[in-house]
This record gives sequence, structure tokens and C-alpha cells, in this order.
Amino acid sequence: MIDKPPALINLQSKIEAHTAVVGVVGLGYVGLPFAVEKAKVGYQVLGIEQNPRRAEQVNLAQNYITDVNDDDLKKVVISGKLQAVVGFNRVSEMDVIVICVPTPLTKNLTPNLSYIENVTQAIAQHLKPGQLVTLESTTYPGTTDEVMKPLLEQTSGLKQGEDFFVAHSPERVDPGNQRYTTKNTSKVVGASDPYSLEVATLFYKQTIEHVVPVSSAKTAELVKVFENTFRAVNIALVNELALLCDRMELNVWEVLDAANTKPFGIMPFYPGPGVGGHCIPLDPHYLEWKAKEFNFETRFIALAGEINRRMPEFVREKAWRVLNRLGIAPAKAKVLVVGAAYKKNLADWRESPATIVISYLWADGVDVVYHDPYVPEIEVAGETFRSIELTDDVLRAVDLVIINTDHSQIDYLNLIAKAKAVLDTRGVTRTLNCDKEKVTLL
Ligand SMILES: NC(=O)c1ccc[n+]([C@@H]2O[C@H](COP(=O)([O-])OP(=O)(O)OC[C@H]3O[C@@H](n4cnc5c(N)ncnc54)[C@H](O)[C@@H]3O)[C@@H](O)[C@H]2O)c1
Repeated sequence: MIDKPPALINLQSKIEAHTAVVGVVGLGYVGLPFAVEKAKVGYQVLGIEQNPRRAEQVNLAQNYITDVNDDDLKKVVISGKLQAVVGFNRVSEMDVIVICVPTPLTKNLTPNLSYIENVTQAIAQHLKPGQLVTLESTTYPGTTDEVMKPLLEQTSGLKQGEDFFVAHSPERVDPGNQRYTTKNTSKVVGASDPYSLEVATLFYKQTIEHVVPVSSAKTAELVKVFENTFRAVNIALVNELALLCDRMELNVWEVLDAANTKPFGIMPFYPGPGVGGHCIPLDPHYLEWKAKEFNFETRFIALAGEINRRMPEFVREKAWRVLNRLGIAPAKAKVLVVGAAYKKNLADWRESPATIVISYLWADGVDVVYHDPYVPEIEVAGETFRSIELTDDVLRAVDLVIINTDHSQIDYLNLIAKAKAVLDTRGVTRTLNCDKEKVTLL
């Protein structure tokens, strides 16, 4: 039997004793909650955040991520367990380095790996024996082994699996979900050498109830992209059903609510104005792109993307129909969009279909305003829109209210009572005892 490398034994004992220094690169929706969780169990956490404003906010314990508890952040900052810096020159102090940077798409829907490449290169320049690097960002199968490993080995002159360790463990956070948090959401870990897998599994087991090791980093990468593709495809399926029901003059919500009473073989997914956020609209295209290398067309992904991207146009069409019924030309209409975030009760408006709906209405000459209790302003087609207050006067003054995001704190009964007409893209009004004549469901 081959003896374990001393670098591995040393790292494992620091992880188990919670004396390891944990670096978290990118303190956003994924990185900040992760950093706070690790600091809470006693690890010394050093965040590397390129945005100096965010780094400063962390050091002042000013919370900017909804899923992070304000008091938790305060405690770990005041106790000195969490600190943020902007550069990479303290990488050599870290035992574990966790990468949580964005993985966007280019304009042509191909992966933009520049964030991962840049931070890997910066880490590689300071890499030392005995460190574990894990990638949490969602990406295509092969990123860890084909992009990160060569960069780390060539720049540092060290060898993965002997001198240092690398794994992929995709983040599964569901922003706003109260029931499933980081702790009780099982976590997949994969690595292409046994020691990396062993030490990464040990690291994640310290704070997560159920860790699922898989045989390679590529498998772990594919697991995550598949999970998001599963959602994208199922959302597209119900969106397509909504388009069909519109033609057939059937109520898609009634169909789905009835179908979902089946106790097996079905899962609830709902139509809407389109998909948003950093995951569903982007991640499947990472897989689609990689599959081409194997001369393989991922047709479900392409089709789901096409259908989901069609939805904001459908919202515009339905808005036009309502305005037409009221005898108002779009260029003379005043429309209020309620909700700019891509998902209820969140402030995240990245890729939100609201921005596309607003841009379409704006292009049609509509006098369009929005209200979102979580999102004070948005950029749409080079214009800055600021959230307006949701007063009865505003509701009475507009010709149409489009419910784009079903935030819980909106008083929908009052909204329907005061508005002239409502277009509900989320089905949030379907169970309300209200004047249904005023409401058009998607
Ligand atoms: N948001 C989610 O719900 C979610 C869920 C699961 C997985 N993910 C994945 O996790 C990854 C991160 O997503 P996010 O939502 O946290 O992104 P984010 O934009 O909220 O956070 C990323 C952070 O990284 C920082 N950053 C960028 N380049 C950097 C650099 N060179 N050095 C240091 N910091 C840098 C940014 O300033 C930002 O604060 C993505 O791959 C995403 O697909 C996100």
C-alpha cells in the first residue's frame, strides 16, 4: 500500500480540527453564504472579492445577500473569523480555496470561462503544497480537469493528487428557500484523483449533512448542469402548454392544478414570463456547447431555450390584447409591471424576463413603469428605471398592471380592486376571491 502524501495528512487534520484557513473567491450569492457558514463552525475564512465595495461591506458586516443572516454575518466579522480582501497575495495563507465566480455566456450563447481562468491563474501563482482548490461555479464537464488542472500545474510546477488537490463541488443553493439550506442540501463532490476526492469530501462533510462523492470532476460538473437542464426543460414544457392552452382557449393553470393532484409520476412546474437568474437560462448552454465537441446535438436544451425565450414576447402579445379590448393603443397606454426580480421574494434581477418585457413595451411606445419591493432600480436597453411606490393612485392611473413576479408581500386583492386590468403571468391571483373579469391569466 502506498503511504498517503504528508501534505494530504496535514491538510486532513487541519480540516477535521477546523483550524484550516478557508479562502473563498467571489463573495456573491454563492460565495458569501458559503464563507459565513464556514466561519460559523470555526474556520478562519478569508474572502477574495474583486469588487472593492463588496469587500468593504463584508468587513463592515453590511449584508447584501438575502440568504445570509445579518446577525450571523456580524458575529463572524466581529469575532475576526471572516475577512475580505481584494487581491490574491494572501492565497499562500490558505489551506482550502473555494472558487465561486460567475460563469456567464457570451452573446453567442457560448461559455465565458474568463472568470474561472483568471482566478485559477491568480491562485496558481501563489499555490503551495498541501492546498485544496475546489470549484463551486456551474460549468461544463471538463472545466476542472481540462482548464483548471493544467493552469495550476504548469504555473506552480506542482502536481495534482500528490502536492495539491483539486475537486469540483457544484453549489446547489436555491435562493430564498427556507426549508433547504446549505446544511441540509446534499452536496456532490467529484475529483479526478483519489486523494483530491477524499480530502474534498472530508472538507464538505464538516458542514453538510449528506455529501455524495462521485468518480470524477466531470461527473460532478455534469450532475449540476443536468439538474438545471431538467428544470429548464420542464419549465419549457409547461410554457409550451400555456401557449397551446391560449390557442385552445383553455386555462393552463386549471390543467396544471388538476394534473398535480396525481400522487405519483408528475412534478409541479409552472409557466411564467420566461426564465431568469444566473442558472436556468445559462447553464444548459454550457452543456450544449460541450456536446458539440462530441458531434452531439442536445436537442432538448436547444428547444427548451427557444420556448423559454419566447415567453416575454407572449406576455407582450397578451398585454396588447388586453389593451386592445380596452380600446387603448399601446403608444397611448400606461402600464405598470409588478416585480422585476426573476423569482419571488428575491432582489436578483439578472437575466430577469421583466427586463425583456419592459424593453418590448418601451419599444412599443408604452409609458411603462415598474414596482419591486426588492429591486430599487434596473437597467433596460440603456435606460435606468426606478421602482415606483405601489399606491392606489398609481394603480388607478395605469391602464394595465402586469404581474411579472409573484412577490409575497404584494396585496394582490387591493391591486385587482384598484387596477383597470391585470395580466397575471404567474397565476398568483387564480385562487383569490376577486373580480376575475379584470384579470387575464397567462
Ligand atoms: N446564484 C445562484 O443561485 C447559484 C446557484 C448555484 C450555482 N451558482 C453558480 O455559482 C457561480 C457564482 O454565482 P453567483 O450567483 O454567486 O455570482 P455573483 O455574481 O453573485 O457572485 C460572484 C462574485 O464573484 C466576484 N468576482 C468576479 N470575478 C472575480 C475575481 N477575479 N476575483 C474575485 N472575485 C471575483 C464578483 O464581484 C461577485 O461578487 C456561478 O457559476 C453560478 O452559476 C449560482
